[in-house]
Amino acid sequence: MNPKAFLQLMRKHPAAVNIIATGKAPHRTGMTVSAFMSLTAEPPTVVCAINRNAFSYAHMTDNQVFSVNTLSVEHVDLAKLFAGQAQVFGDERFDEAHWQAFDSDSPCLRHAVMSLECRLIRQVQENTHCLMIGEVISGHCNDSAIPLLYRDGEWVTTSPPLVQQALQA
Ligand SMILES: Cc1cc2nc3c(=O)[nH]c(=O)nc-3n(C[C@H](O)[C@H](O)[C@H](O)COP(=O)(O)O)c2cc1C
Repeated sequence: MNPKAFLQLMRKHPAAVNIIATGKAPHRTGMTVSAFMSLTAEPPTVVCAINRNAFSYAHMTDNQVFSVNTLSVEHVDLAKLFAGQAQVFGDERFDEAHWQAFDSDSPCLRHAVMSLECRLIRQVQENTHCLMIGEVISGHCNDSAIPLLYRDGEWVTTSPPLVQQALQA
């Protein structure tokens, strides 16, 4: 398939938005990532697809630990910042008002929908990208946070459950 047509189709795929981060202050790096999913439950593992040109890629490999922070609707500015849209790089993307640290020193976003601390166990390279497979060491969630999604170039969110909508009809 022609790559342009493929990208047009993939724009329709709704995705949760995360910041993958690694390192200890003042050497933290992080980036906005939608290519993330759980892989196995036993043991608990996750996988994300990282562009090998991204600044965080080499840092994740060096540190061997990283965090996954699933963003809420309150975090659109952070999603843009960590996607490089503000021309701010490296540790300067991290504001202490938003970030604390896991025991492994990986950055942990306050008020995230969910945060995981992961140990990098395997990398699978595929052309421009690399699948980073992590074993989950610890994690927590914030039940009141509303997830941020990205679809067709827009920041969107989840809708009320279908059952709830049916009751209101
Ligand atoms: C909504 C959204 C999702 C993204 N998902 C990914 C992704 O899954 N993998 C990836 O390598 N880059 C992804 N990017 C692009 C990176 O966030 C962007 O290239 C970033 O600037 C890389 O970090 P760096 O500037 O520190 O190199 C995404 C960007 C946006 C806006």
